[in-house]
Amino acid sequence: MIAVLLACSDPTRTLRPPQWTPSSSPATPADTATERPILAPPPEATDLDPDPGIVRVSLTAAPLVYEVGGIPVEGYAYEGTVPGPTLRARTGDTLVVDFTNDLPDPTTVHWHGANVPNAMDGAGWPMPEVLPGGQLRYEFALDRAGTFWYHPHLDTEHQVDRGLYGVLVVEDPDEPVADAELVLVFDTFGEPAAAEEDPHVVDPTLTTWAVNGLVDPRWSVPGGSVVRVRLLNASNAGYLAVADQHVIAHDQGLLAAPTDGDVLVAPGDRVELEWRVGDGLDVLRRPWTVAGGPALGEPVRLLEVEADPPAAVPAGLAWPFAGGAPTEDPGTTDLRFLLTGSPDLGWEMNGETFPDVTAPVVALGEELVIEVRNASPASHPFHVHGHAFEVLSMDGVAPVARTIEDTIDVPIYGLARLALTADNPGTWMTHCHVLPHAEGGMMTLLVVEP
Ligand code: C2O
Ligand code: CU
Repeated sequence: MIAVLLACSDPTRTLRPPQWTPSSSPATPADTATERPILAPPPEATDLDPDPGIVRVSLTAAPLVYEVGGIPVEGYAYEGTVPGPTLRARTGDTLVVDFTNDLPDPTTVHWHGANVPNAMDGAGWPMPEVLPGGQLRYEFALDRAGTFWYHPHLDTEHQVDRGLYGVLVVEDPDEPVADAELVLVFDTFGEPAAAEEDPHVVDPTLTTWAVNGLVDPRWSVPGGSVVRVRLLNASNAGYLAVADQHVIAHDQGLLAAPTDGDVLVAPGDRVELEWRVGDGLDVLRRPWTVAGGPALGEPVRLLEVEADPPAAVPAGLAWPFAGGAPTEDPGTTDLRFLLTGSPDLGWEMNGETFPDVTAPVVALGEELVIEVRNASPASHPFHVHGHAFEVLSMDGVAPVARTIEDTIDVPIYGLARLALTADNPGTWMTHCHVLPHAEGGMMTLLVVEP
């Protein structure tokens, strides 16, 4: 029987999720034989504010030379770790981040997926970029639970690639607490330059995937545990398809209903998984085709979870899924985004190259049906800043249950229909989250007039 504890029952507000740290006993013979690293979650940021409604952290970006799976990286890091520290708060909290730029380059911090005011979005306006040696305080309220993330939004392709990313967890006190929680941040390292240009032109087996900076690590947890996994694909361009998962949440918190099977995690996307660990499990990467579907070929192991000691597979937790069918598509279209280009020709949105764009202007509160048409031979994860949207359909097929996202992969020649309420005033970036595509120009703006 799994004890269900409510997070709000803890008056001291620890920022640490329940988790088992890896055993510190000497390496077992198996460890020595294979030299497989032991997985650790990213460090958790310390809340410096005693006020229970405020989470205040300090965050410094600085150069860091590190190594991933034997591949040397002339990197950048938040707080000296890649991934950066996990920031953890609860719905209703105010997050205050005292940011210092110790990089040789200007930078910003963007809060991907969080409902922030325009000035806090890290876009470079209306608050300017943070110059080398500069500081800036980001401060905003967190109204939605979910697994969000933070990363620079200036020379994004290179700054994120060097290691500037971390997870922002917003907990809902009404959700059950799992026996353990594990933040998994995936990134690709050392891929040939062509893979950075376009994720589809190279043999996917050439890409080295790391999880929390480790290649093919192992992790152990007592059998009988239910583990809540918060997974982020922070890769610039690499598509991750994780086999055989019980998915409980996407970008914007718990789903209306859970799904089982393989899950595609596009660059910038997050999913949450429930692992019921009996006698261990393997997390496998499925090969993925150019067209955006499962390919032939053996899955590659990303992570081995050992049950120590093994036990019977436990029951799952009583997640408060909202239920509900998707909103019916009214059939009208208010805004269109067209994604075109190729590795040779470059990448465009609506036939334009950022920053030379014609930004659509909508009124605050307008309910928009958005059509995103991919007329190119590559997939593109479409992301809107400052807003969440509901997926009405993908290639004419409505999702089985209501699905709220901030980043959605639009496959090759695919068509997404989305419903978005323009509820956040300001000028918002709207772009593909394959970062070489975005930096190459596949980006526009959405102006929400107050
Ligand atoms: Cu992850 Cu424009 O953002
Ligand atoms: Cu793209």
